[in-house]
Amino acid sequence: MQVFWFIPTHGDARYLGTSDGGRVFDFDYARQIASAVDTLGYEGVLLPTGRSCEDAWVTASSLIGATRHLKFLVAIRPGIASPGLTARMAATFDRLSGGRLLINVVTGGDAGELEGDGFFADHAQRYEVTDEFLRIWRSILEKSHRGESVDFDGEHLRAKGAKLLYPPVQRPHPPLYFGGSSEAARQIAAEQLDVYLTWGEPLADVAEKIADVRARAAKLGRTLRFGLRLHVIVRETEDEAWRAADSLISKLDDETIARVQTQFAKMDSEGQRRMAALHGGRRDKLVVAPNLWAGVGLVRGGAGTALVGDGPTVAQRLREYADLGIDTFILSGYPHLEEAYRFAELVFPHLPREVREKLGNGHGPLSGPIGEVMANNIVPQASQS
Ligand SMILES: Cc1cc2nc3c(=O)[nH]c(=O)nc-3n(C[C@H](O)[C@H](O)[C@H](O)COP(=O)(O)O)c2cc1C
Repeated sequence: MQVFWFIPTHGDARYLGTSDGGRVFDFDYARQIASAVDTLGYEGVLLPTGRSCEDAWVTASSLIGATRHLKFLVAIRPGIASPGLTARMAATFDRLSGGRLLINVVTGGDAGELEGDGFFADHAQRYEVTDEFLRIWRSILEKSHRGESVDFDGEHLRAKGAKLLYPPVQRPHPPLYFGGSSEAARQIAAEQLDVYLTWGEPLADVAEKIADVRARAAKLGRTLRFGLRLHVIVRETEDEAWRAADSLISKLDDETIARVQTQFAKMDSEGQRRMAALHGGRRDKLVVAPNLWAGVGLVRGGAGTALVGDGPTVAQRLREYADLGIDTFILSGYPHLEEAYRFAELVFPHLPREVREKLGNGHGPLSGPIGEVMANNIVPQASQS
């Protein structure tokens, strides 16, 4: 089990759908979150891509020097940058960070937004481009270790003599993550990707996706790993956690929900359709499975569900997903700095022992007493439990 956090490059919030308690995203804030999660022992952070975000590559690059172990899951969009350029950026980032790059391949589900970036293609064509992009990208990086070049003549993309002088640290290339719920997405995942990601749907739906992608991969003699992206609202008691969930949407008005849901409905993303279907735009139908709450999706595109509960309960729910085959959890909470600490304090101690040992930057959970008053003559020790 690996636990990732999220860098909110669009800005942070305390109350969804309003600017009350909101936080501007700037370098200092990015550095605070990255440094916190690095120290707490999270495996990595996801940086999203899109019109509403600061650029993922530039943000991640700025944080290399502020972190020691943290991996950067950088989202890229095939179709808006050439595979050759993106391969070079990946190799350079991997070298400069000492092998800490992971790539999240985002095909995109909003035609209007992609057209703004100069990419005119329908859903099927976008996945054709993704497929060709990945073949070129992977080949350039794989061959860079042998000093060889790549020629490719596809329906959408071409490359002639594509070559990297400086190969990435990771062999054959930084791992490729990918999310997409449509048929075309699942097939590409099976053929070319290392980790298939899904937003936080109920267990049965996630199980169906895993089984489908696994079966497609098996037909090709391949295996891949699976990851889950969702929010967390964890408090010391269940009651407190549900109150925090209510509070998160307490300043959100119905007009804003209706406007945002209309925008989402214009997208051709199957994943977004599945997220919206969980709540149907209604704030009275938000608990969609035990401890799984769809309130975030009333106004946030993409990952729209949160696990809500106390530490042991949320840890148990994560284990249920792990039992299905999920090994990577990409989590977030509002505001991202405080909730990174809160999740680490309340949930890490309840994760399986082998996971706990990797977390906390090698310290593991501490045994008490600890604190300004109590610790005068006592050195806190790692807990043996
Ligand atoms: C974990 C995860 C992260 C994603 N991150 C982004 C992102 O940063 N930007 C974006 O535009 N789409 C993002 N997506 C959306 C998908 O990449 C995909 O483009 C979209 O769901 C449309 O594909 P589909 O119709 O196959 O579902 C993400 C999806 C998942 C599962």
